[in-house]
Amino acid sequence: MTYQGEFKEEIIGDRIILRKYPVTFDMAQQIFALTDESRDCLRTFLPWPDLTVQPEDSFAFIYESNKAWKTKEKAEYGIWNKETGTLMGGIGIMHFHDNDSAEIGYWLATRFQGNGYMREAVQLLENEFFPTLIRIVIRNDVKNIRSANVPAKIGYHLDGVMRSSLKYLDGHYGDMNVWTKLRTDWEKQRQ
Ligand SMILES: CC(C)(COP(=O)(O)OP(=O)(O)OC[C@H]1O[C@@H](n2cnc3c(N)ncnc32)[C@H](O)[C@@H]1OP(=O)(O)O)[C@@H](O)C(=O)NCCC(=O)NCCS
Repeated sequence: MTYQGEFKEEIIGDRIILRKYPVTFDMAQQIFALTDESRDCLRTFLPWPDLTVQPEDSFAFIYESNKAWKTKEKAEYGIWNKETGTLMGGIGIMHFHDNDSAEIGYWLATRFQGNGYMREAVQLLENEFFPTLIRIVIRNDVKNIRSANVPAKIGYHLDGVMRSSLKYLDGHYGDMNVWTKLRTDWEKQRQ
């Protein structure tokens, strides 16, 4: 499914800026360095850090991300600190569904966690996309407490748990929380 509206290349918040990744090797090196320094934390719940072993892998990511941006299948952003200009992680609409729903995915380098940056990033995407969408979904491994706290603390509803819907790289299976916020919930929060 593709999005019908335009994607903004830059979304500016109070403390962070979400920006479309430029397709450059310098960008790839920055993403790779951030991934590499946070590898132990990120690989616990995400599959891609183990598949990111050199800057070329990060380049392939931004190359594909740019392609999906052009076809309006995905809107992926880097998260920059507004004050220092440092890249801190990533967030994106990973899937647009044909029922006017979309799913958000995210990560932060370890040293930037615990500052509320991801809550701010999710809310920036909500403000950007809710006027068009009617529902935003966030899914996380039930064991990923920090990730679950992001939607839990900003008014998402826990719709339920999808049992054995995750397959880890080692072949084991895990359960996944499904959190949603409806446009009507978002409108109520803004009043
Ligand atoms: C999931 C992840 C992005 C959450 O990061 P985070 O920094 O904990 O998320 P938030 O932005 O919501 O920050 C909340 C924390 O900031 C603290 N905080 C500090 N200042 C704050 C502020 N001004 N506003 C809000 N929270 C603030 C909160 O108290 C909270 O800390 P606590 O959990 O120790 O109580 C991060 O753990 C991560 O990248 N993990 C690895 C990848 C991953 O699991 N991705 C998700 C896959 S589904």
